[in-house]
Amino acid sequence: MKRMEEELAERIRRNRMLMKSGFGGEELESDQQRGLPQPPLAKPPSGGERISLPEDFATAVVSADYWTLVQERKSCRVYKEDALTLEQLSFLLWTTQGVKGIRGNRYATIRPVPSAGARHPFETYLAVFRVEGLREGIYHYLPLEHALEYIGEEEHLEEAVTFALCDQKWAAKAPVTFFYSAVPYRSEWRYSDRSHRVMLLDAGHVMQNLYLSSHAIGCGTCAIAAFEQEAVDRLLRLDGEEEFVIYAAPVGVQSH
Ligand SMILES: Cc1cc2nc3c(=O)[nH]c(=O)nc-3n(C[C@H](O)[C@H](O)[C@H](O)COP(=O)(O)O)c2cc1C
Repeated sequence: MKRMEEELAERIRRNRMLMKSGFGGEELESDQQRGLPQPPLAKPPSGGERISLPEDFATAVVSADYWTLVQERKSCRVYKEDALTLEQLSFLLWTTQGVKGIRGNRYATIRPVPSAGARHPFETYLAVFRVEGLREGIYHYLPLEHALEYIGEEEHLEEAVTFALCDQKWAAKAPVTFFYSAVPYRSEWRYSDRSHRVMLLDAGHVMQNLYLSSHAIGCGTCAIAAFEQEAVDRLLRLDGEEEFVIYAAPVGVQSH
């Protein structure tokens, strides 16, 4: 019993260390400072079928009043049966991780959310159940092209998503579930061991935009951090080391 308490205290101490600022202490050279090449701004396409996404969101947005969106934002866990349109999905992808511009000589991307050092160390994956024009399956967002790439099918997608999300059954009832992975080296290249705290801070910005954007198109979402790490990485075909899931969120038409 004592050993378990000590182990727990040690784990908590280590995790609190991660929360504290690493800046100002002993400087360790990052790979960028050592002159190593920069990793890609986004994960390159893997050769799967490409689906281009609409870029005009005029009919998707039903409420653009900022005050209303902030006032009414809430976690939504019950969704209508309705499918999402491709335009709605495109809007959500763009407002969370779309690329607005490229800084310098392909040094960094500028996106609708802030990110420490503009590293944007995330990839977006989707488990699609009901989106007009898309077959069911797993997709990867290509932010530089604003396109989707089809990764593949999953025989029992609803069961697989439910299991991966720790049996939160309501989540796999949504027409689409967003998964955000981290590609840590994109940030480590620049900030070495100081990157991990800021990557987690950055993830929050992405999720808040997903909440507000979902509401703007008459949909709802709910942030999910309770998932089975290995199951969710397997579902998205990620190696779990150089890339792994850190956040998830189903999106569907609000049921009220
Ligand atoms: C980091 C984080 C993780 C969360 N994980 C879950 C989750 O796994 N399951 C769930 O039902 N809600 C989850 N939530 C939603 C919270 O329970 C919700 O935001 C909170 O109850 C406040 O409600 P509100 O978002 O409607 O204001 C999470 C929220 C955050 C920010």
